[in-house]
Amino acid sequence: MSHAPRLRSLSGIKPTGQPHWGNYFGMIQPAIALADDHDAFYFVADLHALTTVRDREALQRDTLGIAATMLAAGLDPATSTLWRQSDVPEVLELAWILGCVTSMGLMERAHGYKDAKAKGKDLGFGAFGYPVLMAADILLYDSDVVPVGKDQVQHLEMARDMATWFNVAFMGAPAGGTVADVKWDGRMLKKPDALVQAKTAIVPGVDGQKMSKSYDNYIAIFASEKELKKGVMAIKTDCKGLEEPKDPDTCNVFQLFKLFAAPAQQAELAAKYRAGGFGYGHAKLELLALAEAHFGPKRARYDALMARPDDLRDILKLGAQKARAVAQPVMERVRDATGLPPRAW
Ligand code: ADP
Ligand code: TRP
Repeated sequence: MSHAPRLRSLSGIKPTGQPHWGNYFGMIQPAIALADDHDAFYFVADLHALTTVRDREALQRDTLGIAATMLAAGLDPATSTLWRQSDVPEVLELAWILGCVTSMGLMERAHGYKDAKAKGKDLGFGAFGYPVLMAADILLYDSDVVPVGKDQVQHLEMARDMATWFNVAFMGAPAGGTVADVKWDGRMLKKPDALVQAKTAIVPGVDGQKMSKSYDNYIAIFASEKELKKGVMAIKTDCKGLEEPKDPDTCNVFQLFKLFAAPAQQAELAAKYRAGGFGYGHAKLELLALAEAHFGPKRARYDALMARPDDLRDILKLGAQKARAVAQPVMERVRDATGLPPRAW
């Protein structure tokens, strides 16, 4: 019996501080679930981190930290590929070529660029070009699905546009320069799909806005038990008194509780909210218990992995070898299509 080849799932996460619940439920957990029946390719986006990080020790520490996080959360390096983005330099070569077929109009529509401009910030070239490097990350590996949180969907659409433009420019796809849908024929750059989990598309932070490192409203995945408690207790609620009935659907604590709880547990807590005589402090303790049960064992694995940095480096090195073996033929295909000669060495 012949088996269809497995689809490739690919995603990246930046080593910019401690990963939080938004990263975990928005990207890490769905990515690891996909590894069961996909050829899973995940990387630590250290080149992307350089758009903001200016601390070499922090970059190195956080790169290992993200790798350890993925492994502690359940990624199996024997069956999946986990690597450091900068270990496959072809990605920078592809980024340049994609940049050459990408219009300024598309770049100027990127949310990150528009937000920075609206705030009057002087955006660096790296931050402006960020979506091009991200498209190269994806297209270099002939990816099929890209698990990400909702904030990355525009980047995925841009990657699809860049693939089309490349195919139009160099692969004889419909003339006229339209961004028409070009069918994948095994030679062209393959257009990936974003995979966004409806339930965890935007995980709220302790203040109710999107959880993000930049808003300082996050709870770290592997916070110590004490920090975890501090984070949960800091979640903002309205000021209804203990006896008053409460609405679970507008409560931030309940939204976060749902991430960890089975449907029956969710229904049970929702009933307590509506009945009254149940305070937000009680709800926070229930959330804390579930979060600790979920992350406690993973935290122990994370700590053990971080205590062996050389083993982590070996895993990333092996991953880079596997990733590069996929990237190189794609890069040769791309160079050939553009007219760049085969490598001289
Ligand atoms: P941050 O916004 O904290 O800097 P990153 O940009 O490093 O996070 O995001 C890494 C991954 O985690 C991306 O796939 C992103 O979509 C996802 N992600 C980040 N924050 C959230 C959130 N609050 N809800 C859902 N997914 C998120
Ligand atoms: N831009 C993503 C983020 O900020 C990280 C990333 C870089 C990525 N390259 C990628 C995600 C490729 C998916 C695919 O979270």
